[in-house]
Amino acid sequence: MTTSARIVVTGKIPEAGLEILRTAGELWAWDSSEPIPLPVRNEQLADAEVAVTLLTDRVDDAFLDAAPRLRLVANVAVGYNNIDVAACDRRGVIVTNTPGVLTDATADLAMALVLMSTRRLGEGERLIRSGTPWQWGMFMMLGVGLQGRQLGIVGMGAIGEALARRARAFGMTVVYNNRRAAAPEIEADLGARLVDLPELLATSDVVSLNCPYSESTHHLIDADALALMKPSAVLVNTARGPIVDEAALVSALRSGQIAGAALDVFEREPEVDPGLVELDNVVLIPHLGSATIETRSAMAALAARNVVEVLAGREPISRVTL
Ligand code: GLV
Repeated sequence: MTTSARIVVTGKIPEAGLEILRTAGELWAWDSSEPIPLPVRNEQLADAEVAVTLLTDRVDDAFLDAAPRLRLVANVAVGYNNIDVAACDRRGVIVTNTPGVLTDATADLAMALVLMSTRRLGEGERLIRSGTPWQWGMFMMLGVGLQGRQLGIVGMGAIGEALARRARAFGMTVVYNNRRAAAPEIEADLGARLVDLPELLATSDVVSLNCPYSESTHHLIDADALALMKPSAVLVNTARGPIVDEAALVSALRSGQIAGAALDVFEREPEVDPGLVELDNVVLIPHLGSATIETRSAMAALAARNVVEVLAGREPISRVTL
C-alpha cells in the first residue's frame, strides 16, 4: 500500500530495498557512495516521516531536531550504537535494525579472520606482493592449527552461535561468555560451555568478540583483560571497535603479551591506529562483516519491510527496544 509518507534514505542502499520503499511512500534516496553532505541531509529530513540510515549516520538530537515529523529510523545494520535510542524514544520515534539476515556472512568473516591470523595469511600475501624472493621452506611462516584449540566467544547471540558451529567443524572446543546462559539444548548442540570473562580470556587460544557495543561493553577488552590472555592467543573483533581499548591492544601486541589480532572494526573507524598498521601480527579488514551481495540486499529489504509495516500502522519486524 503506497502512502504519501516521505521516506528519506541517507546513503546508497541495494535496489532490493529501494524497490520495496518505492511502493511504501514518497521516496528520496541519496545515490552516491560518498557520504551525504549535512545541509542536503537536513534539507531532506525536514519533512521526512521515515529515515532509512546506515551505521555511519549518527542519529542523535541534532539529526532528530532536523526531522521534526520523523516516526521511524530504519537502520540498515544489526548494530545500532550509531543511534541514540533513548532520544528517539523520548520523541516517539520507532527504531528498527536488521538482525538475522547477516548472521552467516558475519560468522563466515569471523572464521576467516581466525584462519587468517592463526595461519599468517596476511603476512604471506604481503610477502608475495612485496616482490621479495622466496621459496618453500620447512620452517617458513609456521602458524598454528585449530584442531583441539579453544575458541572463547564473548557475546553468544546469533552471530556467536553461528561462529561456534563453524569453529566446531574445524575441531575447536568452544567456551562462551554472555549475560545469560544459552538454552541447554543450544549449549549441547554447540558443545559450548558458559564461563566468566576472566576464565574465557585466560584459557582461550582464540578470543572472538561478538557482543553489541554499549556503555557496558566500552573497552571491555582493556589492558587488564589483555593481560589475562595467553601469550599464544589471538584476538578477533568483528563486532564494534570501541569494545577494545586500541592503544592497550597495540601495546599488548608490541610486547608479545598476546600473539596476534584480526580486526574488522576499529575504535575510531575509519581511522586505523598507525601502531596497528606497522605490526605484522595483525590482520586488518575494512568493516566487511556483512559485505556480501546477498546479505546487503537482504539487509536493505528487511529495513524496507520494517518501513512498510510501520507505515501500515503495524508492529515492525525487528524493533529495537531500550
Ligand atoms: C554491521 O556492522 C552491522 O551492524 O550490521
